[in-house]
Amino acid sequence: MSLLIDRIGELVTNDDGNCGCARGHLTTLADAAVLIEEDRIVWVGRSKDAPAADHRLGADGRAVLPGFVDSHSHLVFAGDRAPEFAARMAGNPYTGGGIRTTVAATRAATDDELRESATRLRDEALRQGTTTIEIKSGYGLSVADETRSLRIARELSAETTFLGAHVVPPEYAGRVDDYVSLVCGPMLHAATPYARWIDVFCETGAFDEDHARAILTVGRAAGLGVRVHANQLGHGPGVQLAVELDAASADHCTHLTDRDVEALAGMWTVATLLPGAEFSTRSPYPDARRLLDAGATVALATDCNPGSSYTSSMAFCIALAVREMRMTPAEAVWAATAGGARALRRDDVGVIAPGKRADLIVLDAPSYLHLAYRPGVQLVSEVVHNGVKL
Ligand code: NIG
Ligand code: FE
Repeated sequence: MSLLIDRIGELVTNDDGNCGCARGHLTTLADAAVLIEEDRIVWVGRSKDAPAADHRLGADGRAVLPGFVDSHSHLVFAGDRAPEFAARMAGNPYTGGGIRTTVAATRAATDDELRESATRLRDEALRQGTTTIEIKSGYGLSVADETRSLRIARELSAETTFLGAHVVPPEYAGRVDDYVSLVCGPMLHAATPYARWIDVFCETGAFDEDHARAILTVGRAAGLGVRVHANQLGHGPGVQLAVELDAASADHCTHLTDRDVEALAGMWTVATLLPGAEFSTRSPYPDARRLLDAGATVALATDCNPGSSYTSSMAFCIALAVREMRMTPAEAVWAATAGGARALRRDDVGVIAPGKRADLIVLDAPSYLHLAYRPGVQLVSEVVHNGVKL
């Protein structure tokens, strides 16, 4: 079965000709068409040269982009923390302490409740154009609850991350070494069949550098790729550790020294910025310009979770990045598509080119510029995922 999308006013391809360079540039094609066969893109060119197809979707001058790649989310949880958000807006700081509230609610939920809530959020993201989403565990923090969180996450995405080292759960208070042993042993063993990645919240109040290194190293030895929650709440060792361990991504990167920026420059470890978290915690935004000018690869993701960033909207993150983080609209859209793909070490998504996965969105707008120019508006009018129009 083939599908032709034609009469595209502006096609964002992100096609760097497979140069393999870590940091790419947004590329566009005017008056374009895309031919899809099954779940793959097979042809990209001018609309006037388009081949015939079984089905046709006319874009009528609208913009078409790769589906968003949200490389950082925490969708498996129960409950919400709206009162905590309201308290922050009234001046309370965010410390990460509320994570334990969600852990208690998640442990008390049934499998079906967790599955239903995570599926609803995944579908919400998909309707807004997110065709690839990474999903972390991290609100179970016991062998059984981390394993079931990952089992549910795996039903929704191939990009699953074991975050048993999110915080130390209450029953291990004062016994962090024992909890790290649990994470590195039985929990990792049970989680590994359902996880592609391992992550640690490396921050004061969560896990220190030595614990984070131990957990990530044993996870890597078990075959998982590495990612790190780094430098969110203050300066710390997370970014350096991520680069040292060749992590696919250092996430947050809000508080960076010059040494941290230098460490990320030109490396394969992507700096994934999560402006929804700064919005929702009323914190200073990371300086994307500083990273980009230094030569780091930047991705944007939602961090969707009930505490620090309860949004599934990549468009919202793009708008924040442009308005608050000194990114150009082109850089922000690249970071939310091809950048996210780099942060997941994927070369089959985030790009519109022959051979790539047929994940595309049609905007109700003539240009990708409108994603930041028209904030808060649902501009994604069509989503094609795995070659199928939703
Ligand atoms: O990425 N900082 C650590 N984890 C999440 C927040 C989790 C929560 O507050 O529930 C984050 O922001
Ligand atoms: Fe997070």
